[in-house]
Amino acid sequence: MAIIIRSTGVHIPERRIPNAELVSFVDTTEEWIESHTGIAARHIAADGTVTSDMAADAARQALANAGIEAKDVDLIVVATATPDYFGFPSTACIVQDKIGAYGCAAFDLGAGCTGFIYALDAAAAMLEARKGRHALVIGAEILSRVVDWQDRATCVLFGDGAGAVVISRIEEAGRGLIASILGAEGGGAKELMLVQEERSKTFEPAEPVVPVISMNGKKVYDFAVKSITVLVNRLLHNSAYRLEDFAWIVPHQANARIVQAAAKRLGTKEEKFYMNMAEYANTSAASIPIALHEMDQKGLLKKGDLIMLIGFGAGLTYGAQAIRW
Ligand code: UT7
Repeated sequence: MAIIIRSTGVHIPERRIPNAELVSFVDTTEEWIESHTGIAARHIAADGTVTSDMAADAARQALANAGIEAKDVDLIVVATATPDYFGFPSTACIVQDKIGAYGCAAFDLGAGCTGFIYALDAAAAMLEARKGRHALVIGAEILSRVVDWQDRATCVLFGDGAGAVVISRIEEAGRGLIASILGAEGGGAKELMLVQEERSKTFEPAEPVVPVISMNGKKVYDFAVKSITVLVNRLLHNSAYRLEDFAWIVPHQANARIVQAAAKRLGTKEEKFYMNMAEYANTSAASIPIALHEMDQKGLLKKGDLIMLIGFGAGLTYGAQAIRW
C-alpha cells in the first residue's frame, strides 16, 4: 500500500503586480526587493474573491487532472491562515459545497507557511488509518488582505493563490510518501504573527477587526535557513537516501536568499531547489502545491523520481516529506 500524489491544480489570480508597479505605492525600490528576496511580482485576488473560491478552483483542476469525481473524495483538508471566516465555518466545508464533494470529511489546518506539509501528512495518515481512497489537500491564501501596505518590510513579500493535490491510497508499494518530519518551536510564536487589535469585550456592536502580519524578519530568516538545512539532513537520515538520489527539493517559496544560504550550508547547488517566488512571491501554505503544479506542467516530475518537500513558517513550524513520484 502507498499514498501517492495523483495530480495537482492551481488558482493564480489574474491581477499581477510587478515590482515596478509596487514601487508606485510602497516606499521601496525594485532593486531592494529583487536583491533581498528574488521576488519580481505577485498575484493579487480580485475584490470579492475569497479563499474558498481560489481553493475550489484549484481543487476542481486537481480532480480533473486525476480523472476523479468530487463525489469520490473522502477528505478535504485546507491549509490556510486566511480563511473565509474567523473560527468557523471552516474554509474546507465551503470548498466541499462549492465542488460538490457532499458528505466527505472536511477541515482546515493552521501551521502557517508549513500548512501544506502538515496537511499532506495528516491527510495521508487519515487515508491509511481509515482506509479512505482519495483526499484533496489544498493550500490557499489571500495574504494581500492581511498585509499592512504601509509596512514595506512585509508587504513586498507576499502574494495570493491556491494549490491543490489529490492524494490516493493505492495497493502498489514503493511509491508515494516514504518519509516525513513535522515539528514546531512554539517559543518563536511571536516572531511571525497575524496581530489583531484588542477587541471590545462588551456587547456593543464593533467594526470587524482586520488582522495584519507582523514579522521579525531576521529571526524568521535564520529559522528558515536552519530549518531547511536540518530537515534535509534528517530526511536523508530517516529515508537512508543520499542528497544526490533526489531529483528535486521543493522548498516553501519565501525568499530566494534563504534557499541560496541553505544550499550553501548543505554543500549542494542552488539548482537542486525548485524556485518560483520570482513570479508569485510568498503565498504561504499555497506555495508548495503551486510549485508542484508548475513543475508537473513543465514535465519536471517523472514517475519514480525522488523529491523532497520542505516547509517552514509561523508557529514557528517546520516539516518535510520525501516522496517517490
Ligand atoms: O514564509 C515564512 C515567513 N517569512 C520569511 O521567511 C521571511 C524571512 N525574512 C527575510 O526574508 C528577510 O529578513 C527580509 C527579506 C524580510 C528582510 O531582509 P533583510 O536583509 O534581513 O533586511 P533588514 O530587515 O535587515 O533591513 C535592511 C534594511 C533596513 O534599512 P536600514 O535600517 O539598514 O537603513 C530596512 O529598513 O532594508 C530596509 N528595508 C527596505 N528597504 C527598501 C526593509 N524593507 C525594505 C523595502 N524596501 N521593502
